[in-house]
Amino acid sequence: MSLFEREFRDCLGRFPTGVALITVMDGGSARAMTINSFSSVSLDPPLILWSLAKDSHRYDRFLNAQDFAVNILAADQAELSTACARSDDLEANGGRWTPASNGAPLVEDAIARFECRRHQVFAGGDHEIILGEVLNVDRPRDAEALVFVRSGYSKI
Ligand SMILES: Cc1cc2nc3c(=O)[nH]c(=O)nc-3n(C[C@H](O)[C@H](O)[C@H](O)COP(=O)(O)O)c2cc1C
Repeated sequence: MSLFEREFRDCLGRFPTGVALITVMDGGSARAMTINSFSSVSLDPPLILWSLAKDSHRYDRFLNAQDFAVNILAADQAELSTACARSDDLEANGGRWTPASNGAPLVEDAIARFECRRHQVFAGGDHEIILGEVLNVDRPRDAEALVFVRSGYSKI
């Protein structure tokens, strides 16, 4: 990694974010990926985005999924976040879920969930920017959010 890249990452890391699991169904199994690139885009129509690394082994699975969900994690779900950064088998990682109306897995115990349909994909350097149209939202639990800052988990 170049000196610039190190410094760029460290500067980005000073911007605290929430942590979410992007979830999709693939061949009957629930798959998840930990992300912090989630962002709101538009209220009307309701649109959100997240970005997917092009060098991810999960690239095809997550890029091709027409239906997905964004599950915002609570402060007590850091372990699930770490597990879903390592591997994408949601159940093996201890994640409990129910299907959304679009079929995407909704993680139980998340603090907010967005049921989405892939709307558009934009080129973003070494990532793809995935824009999702939000079909449904809910807040299954009232708890503090999990926060990611300076390469580690924190809470407010
Ligand atoms: C807090 C956190 C945030 C992350 N955010 C993103 C993200 O926004 N986009 C992404 O492609 N990967 C993100 N990752 C990395 C993936 O979760 C995962 O670790 C990576 O894709 C692993 O490589 P693989 O997909 O080749 O198995 C993040 C990881 C962590 C721990």
